Amino acid sequence: MAYSEKVIDHYENPRNVGSFDKNDPNVATGMVGAPACGDVMKLQLKIDDQGIIEDAKFKTYGCGSAIASSSLVTEWVKGKTLDEAAEIKNTDIAEELALPPVKIHCSILAEDAIKAAVDDFKSKQDK
Ligand code: FES
Ligand code: FES
Repeated sequence: MAYSEKVIDHYENPRNVGSFDKNDPNVATGMVGAPACGDVMKLQLKIDDQGIIEDAKFKTYGCGSAIASSSLVTEWVKGKTLDEAAEIKNTDIAEELALPPVKIHCSILAEDAIKAAVDDFKSKQDK
């Protein structure tokens, strides 16, 4: 199966690989797994005092499409509010990366990781 050029670009030059301190009150962490293949994605967002995502990092143990999806998402979320980030759909990711149908769940993983991070931040704020 051929990967699209955008997938290869993100796979070979992943943006924003790494992690933040998950105990930092301004850091949101979303960790999700794909039941279909066992891959795992960790997405972290750094949120400023205005509620804007100022930085994002990811670590993904998965296929090229999963890595490309998470790399793309770290670029897309920067400058957004959490609510705006939560609106990113897996279909937007799949379209941008030209993912084939069997790789759609890789983009769903990225959407789920954003939502998990947003939930994590909200539950941190409630404490
Ligand atoms: Fe890795 Fe599917 S086999 S994401
Ligand atoms: Fe499972 Fe890509 S995340 S095949």
